Amino acid sequence: MRKKVVAGNWKMNTTLQEGVRLAEEVNNALKETEAKCDVVICVPFTHLASVNAVIDQSKLGLGAENCADHVKGAYTGEVSAPMVASTGARYVILGHSERRQYYGETSATLKEKVKLALAEGLTPIFCIGEVLEERENGTYNAVVKSQIEEALFDLTADDFKKIILAYEPVWAIGTGKTATDEQAQEMHAFIRSTIAAKYGADVAEEISILYGGSCKPTNAKGLFSQPDIDGGLIGGASLEAEPFMGIVKAF
Ligand code: PGA
Repeated sequence: MRKKVVAGNWKMNTTLQEGVRLAEEVNNALKETEAKCDVVICVPFTHLASVNAVIDQSKLGLGAENCADHVKGAYTGEVSAPMVASTGARYVILGHSERRQYYGETSATLKEKVKLALAEGLTPIFCIGEVLEERENGTYNAVVKSQIEEALFDLTADDFKKIILAYEPVWAIGTGKTATDEQAQEMHAFIRSTIAAKYGADVAEEISILYGGSCKPTNAKGLFSQPDIDGGLIGGASLEAEPFMGIVKAF
């Protein structure tokens, strides 16, 4: 049985103090809940060590939102995978559409980031997804397929199995416009078949594929009950404990 996961992506929100408080709230709520999925929060770099100190990672996993494409050296302002791992974090979001769109991340740099994250024992939550124009002109399957192929398909099957994928249609992120259950399921099944063609059906069955994009307590149940949707990557609704826990409880 593949893992079910609900992961929060705080993006560039909360001061350190606010973030620690929010992490404590989620951590406390999880103590009182029998969560039927893994729960993760991905937080700004500045918050990682402090959040790690106040949560129980056997109940609430911790992740970063990015890492550098080099191990160390003269890269002012960058934060490496070993630095992330040294805070106690165990996950890292890579290839988020905002990184691709605003910071020029390409498949070539993402390929390096994935390798460096895996070398540190971090679990990459690797994001893929088409923009509105690609949804409308019907090229969305091809776009998502090449995002996966270019950044991930030189991994061995053993390494590929360590990745969590997150399908996030860019037109649904922060817009309030969710993909329908059917649109999301159709894409998740396509992603799984793409993996099966490369690594075989057994590997494809093991990979958790999360949906992201305006996921809320009200639509999570419908999405998560689709056969190929294994959880969610949650932006806006992860910034308060109550809606985030509402999504966790959708499982
Ligand atoms: P959203 O963001 O839930 O606010 O749409 C999801 C994401 O970008 O990971």
